[in-house]
Amino acid sequence: MSRHLLSVDSLTRDSVNHLMHVAARMEPIAQRRQVTRVLEGAVLGNLFFEASTRTRVSFHAAFCRLGGSVCDTTGFTFSSMAKGESLYDTSRVMSGYCDAIVMRHPDQGSVAEFAAATHVPVINGGDGPGEHPSQALLDFYTIDKEFTRLGKKLAGAHVLLTGDLKYGRTVHSLIKLLSLYDPMRITLVAPPGLEMPDYLIDLVASRGHRVEQRTSLADDYADVDVVYTTRIQKERFTAEMSEGFSLSRDFTVDRAFMDKRCGRDTIVMHPLPRDSRSEANDLDVDLNGDPRLAIFRQTDNGIPVRMAIFATLLQVDELIEKDLRPVRWFVPERVGVDDSAL
Ligand code: NCD
Repeated sequence: MSRHLLSVDSLTRDSVNHLMHVAARMEPIAQRRQVTRVLEGAVLGNLFFEASTRTRVSFHAAFCRLGGSVCDTTGFTFSSMAKGESLYDTSRVMSGYCDAIVMRHPDQGSVAEFAAATHVPVINGGDGPGEHPSQALLDFYTIDKEFTRLGKKLAGAHVLLTGDLKYGRTVHSLIKLLSLYDPMRITLVAPPGLEMPDYLIDLVASRGHRVEQRTSLADDYADVDVVYTTRIQKERFTAEMSEGFSLSRDFTVDRAFMDKRCGRDTIVMHPLPRDSRSEANDLDVDLNGDPRLAIFRQTDNGIPVRMAIFATLLQVDELIEKDLRPVRWFVPERVGVDDSAL
């Protein structure tokens, strides 16, 4: 694996498989049964210049669960970039303070520019509409774990990606990552004007996958194994696009869609946050409590996967088991009140 994690382009099937194995070994720590101190003394710089809850907090928590400490800054207006500091200068300064850096920034390519100015490992936590590689890794880990539970195989699987496929960086990274594996079927359903960029469709097709674009969810998706739905990224719209835009209810994944059109073991994923305002027509809350809804298992998986990324980049992945201790504090059996027993 390369020094930084900026794009899925730098990953191979072997490096992804390695990260998946390391993540599985992190489970006892992520599930709060064991404690490790393998990153004791290390400091993470967590720089978020764009809105975030789970990515920022899960990177932070993952570093802490490995025994490290975290310094962070949130929001552009409170950073020196608001005073005109360049990415180069911020990068050099932060490198003197931290052993690893996670950065989210509204401009595509900005995290790569930041990383070019440092020898400290940098992880792209989302660069505008560009990429979100750690999300793709945790999505892939989730698919793999759910398929193992359901006795399914990745080769030949049918994955439906829907929602904002143009500006949604998570689907850009995920489709690249899936394309590294044996041929599968990928169906894309986006509202007009928010389709997956052609270069990504061409890349995936050139690697032997069957890619199909459809314009509506009102179709038969009974053989779909994964429904991956995304939020409309209105914050990336031009004023012209925003004017009068509203997502038709036809693009909503809800219980009726799942019961009528999908199979009984089709899983539903979403990178979150889902926009729960009724006019948004994002993933419906009426699926809460349905075991097919994997979204919170997906967010939980962010911890072991991000621990695996840190452990691998900081080269302590072979040392994790050496200093494990049992957890001593109270941990509830299930963390969510609606969590299904699988
Ligand atoms: C996503 C993002 O920021 O790209 N969220 C996340 O990191 N899980 C998706 C989104 O904001 O819609």
